[in-house]
Amino acid sequence: MRAVKGRVLSVASECVPLLKTGGLADVVGALPKALAGQDWQMRVLMPAYRGLVGRLNGAEEVWTGGDLFGGPAIVLAGEVDGLDLLLLSAPHLYDRDGGAYSVAGADFADNPERFAALSWVAAEIARDGLGDGWRPQILHAHDWQGGLAPAYLRYGGASEVKSVITVHNIAFQGLAPAAKLGALRLPASEFHPSALEYYGNISALKAGLVTADAITTVSPTYADELMRPEFGMGLQGVIAARAAKVRGILNGVDTEAWDPAREVGTVPYDARRLGRKAENRTRLLAEFGLGEVPGPLAIVVSRLTDQKGIDLIPPVLPDFIAAGGGLAVLGTGDPHLEAAMRGAAAAYPGRVGVRIGYDEALSHRMFAGADAVLVPSRFEPCGLTQMYGLRYGTLPVVAATGGLADTVVTASPMALATGAATGIAFHPTDALALGQALRRLVQLHAQPVQWAAMQRTAMRQPVGWETSSAAYAALYSELCG
Ligand code: ADP
Ligand code: GLC
Repeated sequence: MRAVKGRVLSVASECVPLLKTGGLADVVGALPKALAGQDWQMRVLMPAYRGLVGRLNGAEEVWTGGDLFGGPAIVLAGEVDGLDLLLLSAPHLYDRDGGAYSVAGADFADNPERFAALSWVAAEIARDGLGDGWRPQILHAHDWQGGLAPAYLRYGGASEVKSVITVHNIAFQGLAPAAKLGALRLPASEFHPSALEYYGNISALKAGLVTADAITTVSPTYADELMRPEFGMGLQGVIAARAAKVRGILNGVDTEAWDPAREVGTVPYDARRLGRKAENRTRLLAEFGLGEVPGPLAIVVSRLTDQKGIDLIPPVLPDFIAAGGGLAVLGTGDPHLEAAMRGAAAAYPGRVGVRIGYDEALSHRMFAGADAVLVPSRFEPCGLTQMYGLRYGTLPVVAATGGLADTVVTASPMALATGAATGIAFHPTDALALGQALRRLVQLHAQPVQWAAMQRTAMRQPVGWETSSAAYAALYSELCG
């Protein structure tokens, strides 16, 4: 066995395979395995939401606290699917009906306390270690739910442990009323604009951004965008002030789970046997109740929210459908966007199919069968589905923003001539540009030789974790340096 270079405690509100509402969970769940290849050991601390403790193999109590924001708490260490997990069991905070953040569409009123508690325990473990003798050198917090962890570590006095915060989405900032300062165990002396205070409230994300030793985000372009008012969502000044400590490290995807050659329930294919994708297309059309689609069959697999630009799709459909295109949508989210998608299916029977829901297995079959994947996001810190698209030769049509801009090489004349093109990137994110991109998609799809060449280039792109895990490992080494 090779020697471990160091140990990292990762703290987050979700992690595959135990709980996922978005790409955050994929990334938090993938990093430990990716970092093991770089000789860094990572353990993940997350809340023991209802039902999770029973899924932990070999559970062992490794930490006990006194009162944790109104009740008792312990940390259980164990393993799930090869992942070394630490579950914070605090029934008064996490053992309840609903999802991780809300019940019946309403956020839990005590979310500030729930994730402050998670962050508090992370900082305690970072400082004092676990009962099994394990102690990290790095505390790595994700998003606002982990944001207070670097802050508690810093405000608790000198420590050798270094901290990193990763911004997966700056739209969620973890605001709490100033009156909660004491209840959240935060020092009143830090309630000012250079620290915890954000326009009269406490901001858990800002607290992490000002106290962590390093800030990362999930693509280089988003790292640059975050310093602009259009993307920084009020925190652009805070990020810009720490520009020297900010790094954009692109996410990877799990190339074993996402592999068209080993996909269950589809005809396997790879870059040399692209013809076999046609059978998956036929099956996908049938699964969505669609008839013949002479042009490109596009898919959307997404949360249906404003961030994702879903509202831009209905206005461009008449032209796309008239040009021969088809669309299959899988997603859940805002009721008005769900209704808009249902409306599109009703307006174009046989050409547009919609499934409202969350269905991992179906999403795989969609990537295996479709020609293109649409990601018209207004902002996209990284985005994973365009990378699934690359891997499956399902060419991405993306807004040129954040990680989408960093992963897709648009089919410009030069990129086509050199064989570098992997999809279509459009700008700005509006219906005009999306409509133009779809017109381009129809044209490219009608040229089978060029289309297949793009598919093969797309399928060769390095969308795994190798480069990014090395970048995280380098950052940890620098911090420990
Ligand atoms: P975000 O985290 O902003 O939602 P990402 O692209 O980073 O965006 O990650 C979204 C993840 O969730 C991807 O793995 C995607 O395939 C998955 N996903 C989103 N909606 C659905 C759905 N309705 N069914 C299955 N998987 C979904
Ligand atoms: C967030 C972002 C998404 C990113 C994911 C994982 O949910 O919206 O772009 O891929 O986090 O980092």
